[in-house]
Amino acid sequence: MLVKITLLSALTCAIALTGTPAHAANHPGIIPAPLKMKETGGAFTLDAQTRILFQSGNNDAKKTAEFLATALRPATGYALPVAEETSPADRAHAIALRIEGDASDLKAESYRLDANVDNVMLTAPAAPGLFYGCQTLRQLLPAAIFSATKVEGQTWTVPGVSIEDAPRFAWRGMLLDVARHFMPKEFVLKFIDTIAIQKMNRLHLHLTDDQGWRIEIKKYPKLTEVGAWRAQTLVGRSGKKPEQYDGKRHGGFYTQDDIREMVAYAAERHVTLMPEVEMPGHAQAAIAAYPELGNLDTPLPVKTEWGVNPNIFNAEESTILFLQDVLTEVLDLFPSHYIHIGGDEAVKNQWKASKAVQVRIAALGLHDEEEMQRYFVSRMNDFLTAKGRSLVGWDEILDGGLGQGPTVMAWRGMDKAVEAVHGGKDVVMAPTEFTYLDYYQGPKDKEPLSIGGDVRLDKVYSFEPLPKALDDAGQKRILGAQGQLWAEYIPTPEHAEYMAFPRACALAEVVWSAKDKRDYKDFLERLPQHLARLDKLGVRYRPLTPE
Ligand code: ACM
Repeated sequence: MLVKITLLSALTCAIALTGTPAHAANHPGIIPAPLKMKETGGAFTLDAQTRILFQSGNNDAKKTAEFLATALRPATGYALPVAEETSPADRAHAIALRIEGDASDLKAESYRLDANVDNVMLTAPAAPGLFYGCQTLRQLLPAAIFSATKVEGQTWTVPGVSIEDAPRFAWRGMLLDVARHFMPKEFVLKFIDTIAIQKMNRLHLHLTDDQGWRIEIKKYPKLTEVGAWRAQTLVGRSGKKPEQYDGKRHGGFYTQDDIREMVAYAAERHVTLMPEVEMPGHAQAAIAAYPELGNLDTPLPVKTEWGVNPNIFNAEESTILFLQDVLTEVLDLFPSHYIHIGGDEAVKNQWKASKAVQVRIAALGLHDEEEMQRYFVSRMNDFLTAKGRSLVGWDEILDGGLGQGPTVMAWRGMDKAVEAVHGGKDVVMAPTEFTYLDYYQGPKDKEPLSIGGDVRLDKVYSFEPLPKALDDAGQKRILGAQGQLWAEYIPTPEHAEYMAFPRACALAEVVWSAKDKRDYKDFLERLPQHLARLDKLGVRYRPLTPE
């Protein structure tokens, strides 16, 4: 025993003395870490003669080859023609893409990449996997490949490798809160690009809240004419007295054409855009546009402060039908199977005080306001189910005893996920403790004002999405996880990138890489290479300063 310990200490010492283990120092800094990677020696060189081949007659392979060529052309300046492979002999000095094998479940996102002096072979059972193979290939090239303009004097080599890779979880997401601060379409497209490079596949768009309604609804134009604009915004933290405002009108919204463009752009990158239309709480912007949706006799403005808010939708049948009309237009725009209806932080004071809501509760044979919310959500659930979609809600939808069917986004803690699974529901993990990327990521006195909390890079990396309290069958109900970029204190795209990266890089590895491949020290060794890529993409991440 003593001998073993001594040997181990000697080894550790040797590693410490020589720096990092040899493999770590040189290996390509792929993020997220692949399942299996062998370095096989030699290198493939991409040059002006390289062609990108797709398997004969396979349209998915062709589309992916075109994506890859488009990604590699700007920095290299090469033509990189995309051509159909007519015989294996064509593969000499080419990058060849093929779709073959078992595409069931998560295998659809798996791929194999072999690079050697002669060629690069990318094989996957389906288009998503082939796309992820292309993302890995981009990361195997020098970081300058991510440059938007031609880079002179660069040799474009790919180290000889054999990679087999597949994701751990199906749901690998980020939430962008465009309601609190409107983010231009161009930024959303860039954000999609950036998360796709990290093999994330969901972007949850939080489109409506008290402070803004961000999606054009043709049937109800005032939602954006009125609801997309607030008179001004609170300066500094909520609750600080006396309150100060910036005096600047803020707002904006996506037209239906904008949404179609974002959805299509995301789909080309195998990212699903999931819309969230909040109800019954976080509704003040909609009530400002259509006061009949609220509980008060007095009109309300679009809210100019942050925080949990008592102004929620009323419980009238006409309000439920209004929201179903809204969802009808939303479903036409977003092909996502999952549709998020919010459900969080619906303060019930106005429902308690409202004669109309109390009459409705009694007429429906319900006991209280929690059951009223359950009824509200179940009406949306029935509506979405009838249209072949699935409802997602924040974990408050568990309150009041909602039945099986909806998917729960667990934000208030791991125990909410366990409760949801025990109630027969699928779960997306979004706990504040690990995934709230609006929280501070360093010492509060050195960071820009944020909503609070403390979720540093290592904390995100340490996140284990599968609650220990669940058995194997229960853990299968955990679809994956996502990072939350709530934007009360994130006024600009630049600030959003600062908050998102590199923490979203850590999260990408949490949701993609095998549990036994997760090693924070190794991640930190690879991360600078990845940040060099983000530099080329113009992503304004938070630098890795000592804390
Ligand atoms: C939430 O943070 N209210 C979901």
